[in-house]
Amino acid sequence: MTDELLGDLLARLSDRTAKVVVVGQGYVGLSIAIRASELGFRVVGYETDLDRVHALREGRSFVDDVSGDQVRMALESGYWATNDPLDLRAFDVAVITVPTPLRDGVPDLSFIESAARDVAQWLQRGSLVTLESTTYPGTTEELLRPSLETAGLKAGEDFFLGYSPERIDPGNGAFTFLNTPKVVSGSDERSLRAVETFYGMLVEKTVPVGSTGEAELVKLLENTFRHVNVALVNELAVFARDLGVDIWSAIEAATTKPFGYLQFTPGPGVGGHCLPIDPSYLAWRVERRVGHRFQFVELANDVNRRMPEYVVSRIANLLNDESKSVRGARILLLGLAYKPGTSDWRESPSMVVARHLLSLGADVRGHDAHIPVDADLAPPLPRVSCDRSELEAADLTVILVDHDDLPYDEICEHAALVFDTKGCMRERAFRGELL
Ligand SMILES: NC(=O)c1ccc[n+]([C@@H]2O[C@H](COP(=O)([O-])OP(=O)(O)OC[C@H]3O[C@@H](n4cnc5c(N)ncnc54)[C@H](O)[C@@H]3O)[C@@H](O)[C@H]2O)c1
Repeated sequence: MTDELLGDLLARLSDRTAKVVVVGQGYVGLSIAIRASELGFRVVGYETDLDRVHALREGRSFVDDVSGDQVRMALESGYWATNDPLDLRAFDVAVITVPTPLRDGVPDLSFIESAARDVAQWLQRGSLVTLESTTYPGTTEELLRPSLETAGLKAGEDFFLGYSPERIDPGNGAFTFLNTPKVVSGSDERSLRAVETFYGMLVEKTVPVGSTGEAELVKLLENTFRHVNVALVNELAVFARDLGVDIWSAIEAATTKPFGYLQFTPGPGVGGHCLPIDPSYLAWRVERRVGHRFQFVELANDVNRRMPEYVVSRIANLLNDESKSVRGARILLLGLAYKPGTSDWRESPSMVVARHLLSLGADVRGHDAHIPVDADLAPPLPRVSCDRSELEAADLTVILVDHDDLPYDEICEHAALVFDTKGCMRERAFRGELL
């Protein structure tokens, strides 16, 4: 019977008659919904945030890697954004892409729980449910599966269940959703077949793994690896300066080693929805299940969290050398997003730097062409252009994000003093210092 259900689902996927519901229309969910719509599936984007639903219905995108044109084309092909759970009825595939934040340092899975409740209501025999939200190993089997099974159907017998971590890197032009291999897993063999078939249509290459727990761990391994290595170069950058050694040149030279080394560069800290959060999901799970502290994660958290404060101390020293104090100094912050090429400012270290400087009485202004001027930044900052008059009027210009579109020549020419936390001014003549 299950083979029959699987055969029917694969047929509906193959002839594109399947109805695909993507729960959560954020950075991850919208990309998947648009791709599924481009492939000819009937797609519903289920989203609890009404502003997002309205924007999508009007053909507007709020996600870097999805254009308004793509949303409009999807709408023409039948894509429907909705906050009405009734629109989930008769789905064949449900992909859950809701947030997984930390609340007081503890994983908050309430969004997955509530998404699962809505999906369970419309679960029918022969359908597929996959989870994409980043979470600790065990979530799919121990939390999602029982929530879905409250509807009376059994995973592996009546419906198919899997986990596939999202790897999108917003703003990365070379590796997109399409050409980044996608790790896929299933609760059982048939579920894996269903998951592999569905994602195999969406992306160029899938990478099947043995269990949903393994796939959950893959994502946390990747992000913990990055978090730890960023912390390593951040700590080294602080010490190298004290040792009188140029960390940027050392990193560049180390990167010439063709094996056994990967380049990571220092900066004002880590931000976004991944590095400051995901490793702590893993550390929490390890401590809960195994009773051990995940020391690498704790250390990396500690080092990376201290970077904004270190940046502020360097700013204070630079101003001091000019016989100026932070209080009353006009400071222009360049780059408010958490990384280059994105408009995402969630958990951005730039915001932490801004908050410290404001608390010290500085006159702080911010520039970031990627973030809409009406964005509700915290702390709120006067937004200015990065032009000659702003550069000349600032006592100090601080580069916090190495966006491609910053006017580097003008910064060299007109900024009175520069503090570059990203090393992007290394090859240029400017007055100031690198991190
Ligand atoms: N942004 C990234 O680059 C990225 C990359 C890989 C993995 N992830 C992971 O993917 C998940 C989603 O991240 P995101 O960046 O897309 O988040 P996001 O906040 O941009 O989008 C999630 C959306 O889900 C909606 N939502 C919340 N609960 C809902 C519910 N019950 N039903 C319907 N909609 C609901 C929210 O309103 C929001 O619009 C997280 O677990 C994140 O860690 C994100």
